[in-house]
Amino acid sequence: MTPSNPETGRVLLVDDEAAFQRLGGGFLRSLGHEVDIAGDGEAALARFAAQRPELVLLDLAMPPHMDPERGLELIPRLAGVPVIVLTGHGEHELALRAAELGAWDFITKPIDPDLLRFVVARALRKSRLEAELLRLRAEQGADDLGLVGQTPPMQQLRAMVRRVAPTRVSVLVLGPTGTGKELVARALHEGSPRRDGPFVVVHCGALSAELLESELFGHMKGSFTGAYRDQPGLVEAAHGGTLFLDEVGEMPPAMQVKLLRFLQEGTFVPVGGRVQKTAEARVVAATHRDLEAMVRDGAFREDLYYRLKGVVLRTPALAERMADVPLLAARFLQRGAPQARFSAGALAWVTARDWPGNVRELKAIVESAGALLLPEQHEVDTELLRLAAGDSSEAPRSIEPAASTGVLDAALNELERRLIQDAMSAAGGNQSEAARQLGVSRVGLIKKLTRLGLR
Ligand SMILES: Nc1ncnc2c1ncn2[C@@H]1O[C@H](COP(=O)(O)OP(=O)(O)O)[C@@H](O)[C@H]1O
Ligand SMILES: [Mg+2]
Repeated sequence: MTPSNPETGRVLLVDDEAAFQRLGGGFLRSLGHEVDIAGDGEAALARFAAQRPELVLLDLAMPPHMDPERGLELIPRLAGVPVIVLTGHGEHELALRAAELGAWDFITKPIDPDLLRFVVARALRKSRLEAELLRLRAEQGADDLGLVGQTPPMQQLRAMVRRVAPTRVSVLVLGPTGTGKELVARALHEGSPRRDGPFVVVHCGALSAELLESELFGHMKGSFTGAYRDQPGLVEAAHGGTLFLDEVGEMPPAMQVKLLRFLQEGTFVPVGGRVQKTAEARVVAATHRDLEAMVRDGAFREDLYYRLKGVVLRTPALAERMADVPLLAARFLQRGAPQARFSAGALAWVTARDWPGNVRELKAIVESAGALLLPEQHEVDTELLRLAAGDSSEAPRSIEPAASTGVLDAALNELERRLIQDAMSAAGGNQSEAARQLGVSRVGLIKKLTRLGLR
């Protein structure tokens, strides 16, 4: 067998018997495995850390006193790889305890080579499948987080998020409003080892310097009117997790200094307090502002800026990735109204519109259009979208095209109007006949006539 065989791998053999080390080790090598050997528990842990084996074969009777308890203790510390336990005859109870501690399988000594070969190959195969499944789930998870988009800028952004998420590095997310900065921050948290810890959002622009300080670092009882008791701050709430500083560009200068100290030293003093406290959190900051220009103008501390931008991620404006609009619209509609579809005109409308509010605006309009659907209505059409966007007017659009009307939409309306006019005159004004010619229902035709102002 060659090392590339999917059923061979790096095996750590933990056994104190020289004879078995030689024979068992030799047998496994002859099958194509890479074999590493440890004679006691301490050596086993050292080899485990250094070699990262894919599988461990563990004899429970460990020196110094051949005490199986010492072997059992090892099992939970060999986490992440299958451990196959070697037991003596009749040691069923021991095997059971090993299983409870997470052992994968067991083989009784003296060992049948065929059984050993089979058990080892199966364990490697299964553990690789599990690892692959986990990886796929993680990938799926990142997409489930909702960073929707297939255009190159979105693919790049997702790749960067995956790469940076597991690290502790500070991330600065830059991009226009509504482009998914907070979503990126959450994805970074979910993809990190801190995912089970807290994700805490601080809205830096929403509060005065005094309130923001108290919000972030907490305050002591009596430190200001209304402070009836000690109140811990958000940095403490974020301990062990991720602290998301949203709109960090709005942070008042007095607070910037205090934040910098927390970032550099992990320490802070609550408002009205005298004792320094500590907390540990990964920091992700975001802003729609041009922070670099703010630094040049002296509105944002340079040292803080450098501290925050360990890595910079940019969320592109929707205008830079219009090809994602139909996909985004479809996702948002599907979440709110699973049965509904867009009409072709509606899709043309969403792609022709410019989206100053970016994804947030698109999402809001699509969601309210979905909510406006009548019980039996399964198609979101242009009319409904306009209504949801709040730019429907009494006068039909095609008569008074507003500046914001998409070019494509206006063109489609114009085309529709001409076709209907032609059909109506060909049918001598008979609506049923014109509808038949156009391949629409009579009610559908009347609706169109009304919308286009032709009645
Ligand atoms: N790429 C995207 N895929 C799916 N939903 C998105 C995407 N970008 C933004 N959103 C959604 O749009 C809204 C605004 O996103 P948010 O992260 O709050 O933007 P920002 O923080 O940049 O202002 C949220 O509801 C978010 O879920
Ligand atoms: Mg935001």
